[in-house]
Amino acid sequence: MTRGGTAIVFEYTVLFCVVSSIAQLLIYCAITGISPISSSRISRKFILSLVPEGAGTICELGAGWGSLAFPLAKQSKQFGDERVLAIELSSLPWLYVKLRSLIFRRPNLDIVRANFLAYPLPSDTKAVVCYLHSEMLEKARPVLEQFLNPGTIVISNVFDIPGWEPESVHRLEDSFCPQVYVYRVPEHPVNVVDVLRANEILVVTVANSTPKPIPVEAISTEAPHDSINIPYTVETQA
Ligand SMILES: C[S@@+](CC[C@H](N)C(=O)[O-])C[C@H]1O[C@@H](n2cnc3c(N)ncnc32)[C@H](O)[C@@H]1O
Repeated sequence: MTRGGTAIVFEYTVLFCVVSSIAQLLIYCAITGISPISSSRISRKFILSLVPEGAGTICELGAGWGSLAFPLAKQSKQFGDERVLAIELSSLPWLYVKLRSLIFRRPNLDIVRANFLAYPLPSDTKAVVCYLHSEMLEKARPVLEQFLNPGTIVISNVFDIPGWEPESVHRLEDSFCPQVYVYRVPEHPVNVVDVLRANEILVVTVANSTPKPIPVEAISTEAPHDSINIPYTVETQA
């Protein structure tokens, strides 16, 4: 092939890569309803200050280009090498974060390509951070309720989580990211599928869980067993 021919092939290859990358970004924006736009510097700094120290995984729902995931991993390393699990669906941002974490060696940062609505969050999750619109947050809420322990902190940049009462709302001097919402995972309403009476303790089997003893007075036995919603006040059996 002549020099001119090689140059043309190269130009078309570059053009193809650019166009397909843009197309992929647009497709995932359409699927998720949000672009991989990064949190502002001010909100990032503020979110980092809210993440608690101590053992446990920090989950980021929708990592985008990793502008929050990397500082989180750096801070977590200083705290005691805690794990950061960043979940991202869009292929290009995911690839970018993956390569960046390999190049800059962030062994405590796991970047997973997945839809967080269908991804089991680790049981040791101590904090969740996200920058998503409220519609997506409303879909994420049952996932958070399913996998996280009650009381786990959920930090949402800019948008509120419909159906949850924020513990606090922090206004920032930042027109791009003007507020940060802080939530605590509420006590779980449980879906009862079986009830066994043993002395004064009812052993209740709930959906997606193992049998748990709960106090008798916490249960109403009027509704059919598979549809009783009771407060999640679990007590240890003596
Ligand atoms: C606004 S960006 C936030 C980026 C980063 N968290 C930050 O604060 O800088 C939202 C990201 O969430 C991702 N996302 C939205 N819905 C998702 C889902 N269901 N599963 C995984 N990622 C999702 C989008 O692809 C996008 O990259």
